[in-house]
Amino acid sequence: MDQGINYIGVDFGTFKTSAACSNGRREMLPTAVGWPKDHVARTMLGRDVIFGKEIQDFRLALNVVRPFERGVLKYVEQSEADMDGTKSDAHKEAAKLMLEHVVSQMRPTADQPIYGVIGAPSRASIKNKQVLLDAAKDAFDAVVIVSEPFTIAYGMNQLNDTLVVDIGAGTIDLCPMFGTYPTEEDQVTLSLGGDMVDEAFLNNMHEAYPEVQITANMAREIKEKFGFVHDLNEKAIVTLTAKGRPKQYDVTQPLKDACNTIVQPIVEGLYEVIAKLDPEYQRRMLNNILLGGGGSQLRGLDNLIEQGLKELGGGKVTKVYDSVFAGASGALKLAMNMPLEYWQTMRKRDQIRIAA
Ligand SMILES: Nc1ncnc2c1ncn2[C@@H]1O[C@H](COP(=O)(O)OP(=O)(O)O)[C@@H](O)[C@H]1O
Ligand SMILES: [Mg+2]
Repeated sequence: MDQGINYIGVDFGTFKTSAACSNGRREMLPTAVGWPKDHVARTMLGRDVIFGKEIQDFRLALNVVRPFERGVLKYVEQSEADMDGTKSDAHKEAAKLMLEHVVSQMRPTADQPIYGVIGAPSRASIKNKQVLLDAAKDAFDAVVIVSEPFTIAYGMNQLNDTLVVDIGAGTIDLCPMFGTYPTEEDQVTLSLGGDMVDEAFLNNMHEAYPEVQITANMAREIKEKFGFVHDLNEKAIVTLTAKGRPKQYDVTQPLKDACNTIVQPIVEGLYEVIAKLDPEYQRRMLNNILLGGGGSQLRGLDNLIEQGLKELGGGKVTKVYDSVFAGASGALKLAMNMPLEYWQTMRKRDQIRIAA
């Protein structure tokens, strides 16, 4: 490998984007771009575009665009999306700025090419991927788009006989690996994920403690801190306010019930993927189910899915070690393992590719 070349792997998710570079740098930030609302905000912030944690801190002074909001870029073509062209353009611009920002954060060596692999949602249509490629054109010298679950499997060296379940904020992607790029038909995408757990938790809290003041953001933070679905006698106690007064609340049951809502749909999704497979593969896949994405960190989820698979004769479920960077590291590994000539040819022809 040429030391001078900058290889970058990106996991471009709905909720968060993570990137890893061959120079050892890694970065994770929310998939969102903020523009100051007016000249007062512009002066206060001192910049035209805001990324990362500051978006949350200054959200009242910003117009925030999340390029992969449900229905935008991701699955629906512009004509079908419920919005006019202007909004869709803002999302495309946001996707482009995000990628440029992420690449600059990797501090690539100047005057050396930047070759990247981007993990995109597994069932994003060809047209959506084309939009992504356009967004990536300026930031990279050559780039390949692959499906997100594929990058997770590649990073873990599990390219064969593995069924990847990528549990993100808005979707859960189920993708069987047979040692090659998976096709769209093999995969199943469920329109639910961590966001749905947050919503269920909020509703359960309003029911259990109507007086408590809690926002969607707080609900997500509590879930990420305690989130569990197992049956041990563990309690989730948090300090919340009611009419401005802080008090401790036991949120164990509302949280657990909310976390549980995704278990059955995942098990049913697995049944659906398995049913499409050659019977010889079915058992091998069931014995090697790999959970990735932020939602895989719900404690006890692996066990509950295993229990749900008993009807199919059982299965074995494991989780990735590092749910934040599994996709980005896998994408980086793939970028570095691709033959240099492949990259050079692509660059020479000013080409960008969609691998899966
Ligand atoms: N420790 C955790 N426990 C439970 N859920 C988590 C945890 N960390 C992140 N999540 C959830 O994972 C989801 C985001 O998944 P992620 O794979 O990061 O995003 P993306 O949808 O961008 O691919 C969010 O709903 C987030 O709340
Ligand atoms: Mg993801």
